[in-house]
Amino acid sequence: MRQLSLFYEEKRKSESTKFKRQRDESLDFKGIQAGQGIYAIHPYPAMFHFMLVRKFIKEFSKEFDLVFDPFCGSGVSAGECLKLNRNFIGYDINPLAILIAKVRTTPQDIEELTNTLKKILTAKIKNFEIPNFPNIHYWFDEDVIEQLAQLKEAILKIEKESVRDFFKVAFSETVRKVSNADPNEFKLIRRKDGKNKNVKETFRNIAKRNIESILEISGIKSDSKIILERRNILDGISLDDESIDLVITSGFTHIKTLVREISNKRMPSQNSPTNIKGNKDETMKNEYAVILKKH
Ligand SMILES: C[S@@+](CC[C@H](N)C(=O)[O-])C[C@H]1O[C@@H](n2cnc3c(N)ncnc32)[C@H](O)[C@@H]1O
Repeated sequence: MRQLSLFYEEKRKSESTKFKRQRDESLDFKGIQAGQGIYAIHPYPAMFHFMLVRKFIKEFSKEFDLVFDPFCGSGVSAGECLKLNRNFIGYDINPLAILIAKVRTTPQDIEELTNTLKKILTAKIKNFEIPNFPNIHYWFDEDVIEQLAQLKEAILKIEKESVRDFFKVAFSETVRKVSNADPNEFKLIRRKDGKNKNVKETFRNIAKRNIESILEISGIKSDSKIILERRNILDGISLDDESIDLVITSGFTHIKTLVREISNKRMPSQNSPTNIKGNKDETMKNEYAVILKKH
C-alpha cells in the first residue's frame, strides 16, 4: 500500500515538474559571442543569443513561415528570420529598439556607407540647434553637447532614409559613450573619471565597426519579408487569425505550462499530412497554455 502511494506521489511530482524550467547546457553557447556580425550594431539590454533563436527557428518553422516577436527589442529574431528565409513581424514599444532592428536587417551598399561617413566627418555645419532637456549639463560637458549637435545635424542632412537610419544608430551609441554616464553600469550613474570627450573619433570608430558588421548581410539572397513596427502590445494586436506559425519572444519569466485536452475540437481525430493513402497521423488533441510573467 505504502509502495503504491509512493509511486503515485512520484508520478504526481514528475507530472507537475514536467514543464517547469529545464537546464540545458547545450543552449549556453559558451565561447560564441552573442554580439557578433549584425548583432554587434548597438548594444541592447537582454538581447537574445542569435544561436538560440536560430536553433528554434530551424526546429519549429519552415521557409516562408511567419514568425512573430511581440517584444522584438533589437531584432535578433528578425535578423535570424532574414538569414533563414522566414517572414517576420516584430513589435516593440521602444522606438530605439525598432530603429536598431531595422538597421540590423537592412542590407546596405558598403561603398555608399563609406562615402557618406567621410561626408559626415568633413561636413562644415554652421547652423545647428543645441538641445535642452532636464539635467543635460550633469550628463554632458558643454563642448560635447556642441559637437554632438553638429554631428546630429550632419546626419539629418542625409537624404536616403535607410542610410540616415544607419548613422543615427551609430550616433545613439556615440551619445552614451561620450556622456558622463559610467560605461560599466547599465543604469545611469555619473562616472567619476576617465571621460571620453572625442565625439568625432568615437563616432568614426562606431560607424566603421557597424559598416563591417552590416557586411554580414550585404550580399544576402533572402526573399523573406521583415516587418518592424513601433507598437505597444497593450493596445492590441491586429494580426489575421491563424496567420502566425511561430512566436519567439523574451523578457518574461516562465511560470508554468499547462496542458489541457481539447474536448470541443472541430478537427477529425486523424489526418493524412503526406497525402499518402493509408498513411495517417493523429491531429492535435492537446492545447498548451504557456504562462509568462514580466520580469
Ligand atoms: C528583453 S527585451 C527583448 C530583447 C530582444 N529579444 C532582443 O533580442 O533584443 C523586451 C522588450 O520588450 C519591450 N516592451 C516592453 N513592454 C512592451 C509593450 N507593452 N509593448 C511592446 N513592447 C514592449 C521593451 O521595449 C524591450 O525591448
